[in-house]
Amino acid sequence: MDIIQVQNISMKFNLMEEKIDTLKEYVIKLIKGKLFYNEFIALKDVSFNVEKGEILGIIGFNGAGKSTLLKILAGVLKPSAGKVLVNGNVAPLIEVGAGFDPELTAKENIFLNGAILGHSRKFLQEHFNEIIEFAELSRFINVPVKNFSSGMYARLGFAIATVTNPDILIVDEVLSVGDYLFQEKCERRIQEMIDKGTTIILVSHDISLIERLCNKVVWLEYGQLKEIGKAELVTKHYKGV
Ligand SMILES: Nc1ncnc2c1ncn2[C@@H]1O[C@H](COP(=O)(O)OP(=O)(O)OP(=O)(O)O)[C@@H](O)[C@H]1O
Ligand SMILES: [Mg+2]
Repeated sequence: MDIIQVQNISMKFNLMEEKIDTLKEYVIKLIKGKLFYNEFIALKDVSFNVEKGEILGIIGFNGAGKSTLLKILAGVLKPSAGKVLVNGNVAPLIEVGAGFDPELTAKENIFLNGAILGHSRKFLQEHFNEIIEFAELSRFINVPVKNFSSGMYARLGFAIATVTNPDILIVDEVLSVGDYLFQEKCERRIQEMIDKGTTIILVSHDISLIERLCNKVVWLEYGQLKEIGKAELVTKHYKGV
């Protein structure tokens, strides 16, 4: 059964041609009709399906459109064309620090971020210690997260996103900022989720991680689907570039 269907997705961004420094400059240009945008196509006619329980890796060079695709799957961005059908609840771990308020403490952010993921206050109270222990941030619960390192952000985000078993877990690269011990711990948790039937979509430049975890891989190149298929085959072609 398909849990995700991506149907002919395209994504266009408007890139500002010239640098505009002030709001005044912007308004003047807007009034004079001199505001030029360059259309940039980040994704072009991408289609694929993900079956329930599948572990899909998405690979490709910098700027290929991987994060843009994940944001569309998570419902954060609306595609310019095409549609996505998602058959389950999604826990997205998309950018380091996304969904956190930097001024709030780790504790407050657990409740904020947890609420965004759809967890009740009661659930979060019950699982608070588990989240903090997994993230190994017990000493930092009352510290505003703006003072966190990128690895600490990633730990907190991963711990919150994986405290329940979502139907679909989407992970974008964030694990790469964790130290190797934390990366191993995350990989074990992802493996547990795989065993329980969670569908996982993983973007990483760590090709050996992709080969270890994924059974299917999507290779994006300049926003287009270059290849899709068995992990070992697609990664082999990718490495052979
Ligand atoms: N909000 C935006 N406005 C304009 N352009 C954007 C926006 N978001 C992404 N892009 C552009 O779309 C392209 C794809 O970006 P994306 O972040 O999806 O790449 P990526 O494959 O995740 O790359 P990386 O491996 O570096 O993380 C890039 O050229 C980027 O500049
Ligand atoms: Mg990216």
